[in-house]
Amino acid sequence: MSTSLVIQAPPFSPEKNRELADRFHRDGCLLVPDVLTPGEVAALTERVDRIFADPRAKTTDTLYGEWIATRLFEWDTMFRDMLVREPLISLVETILGPDCHLIANNFVRNAPGQAIDTFHVDDLLWFPLPDDLPRYDARTRFPCFLFNVQIPLTDLLTDEFGPTQFVPGSHYSGRQPNDPRNPTFEGKGPVSIHCKAGDIYLQHSQVWHRGAPNKSTRTRYLLQQAYSMRFIAQRFYPFLNYRMPDHVLEGASDRLLRVLGKHGKGPYG
Ligand SMILES: [Fe+2]
Repeated sequence: MSTSLVIQAPPFSPEKNRELADRFHRDGCLLVPDVLTPGEVAALTERVDRIFADPRAKTTDTLYGEWIATRLFEWDTMFRDMLVREPLISLVETILGPDCHLIANNFVRNAPGQAIDTFHVDDLLWFPLPDDLPRYDARTRFPCFLFNVQIPLTDLLTDEFGPTQFVPGSHYSGRQPNDPRNPTFEGKGPVSIHCKAGDIYLQHSQVWHRGAPNKSTRTRYLLQQAYSMRFIAQRFYPFLNYRMPDHVLEGASDRLLRVLGKHGKGPYG
């Protein structure tokens, strides 16, 4: 494990976190600019290239296909310490509560021509609505039990670079996307999240989204940290009998230990 170069930054104020959380709940996606420093972006980029190039990435089942890596916290303290980087973690806790924890820590490194470019919700549709109910009521807050924090390490300033696209408010639809390439929800079509390396964005798992096709000549680097409420159990591959390596826990703060899964007793165990 090499030295962590993660910056100790202050959290946002509780008021700002609540305001950002409200926007996230309403739209299903939220861009927070200027979180990582250029030094962090460069170090994370170099380190993830090292992981993809390491033959052990295959033998430890770190790779998921050719261009997605998983369980990055096992590989390098810098990826581990990013899990509790401020102002990210306080914002995550504002949305999911103080008992939230990590459920996935992936990296998507997609070269030109590679993308998950059909619109989808992640994993499954939580609460499907019958045909005669058009949507969930906008006066309610649609639940958020888990979501992804996306951390681009390359600039994605125009569509040719393959930014994430989402349909605002579509997590209220109670449905799968109504078109795999150009879905609309209440007259609104997809919006691109144009962002710089070092910005972060939060993505509700139920909002319709995709990675736009990467039509540039540059590989897209995207670090992902998915968090959930405590009641959704962690399950890192190979799921049954997964054991957190001891070196990941060395020197970890109480908050980091909790994010890695250390909880007091409570409901369901
Ligand atoms: Fe997705």
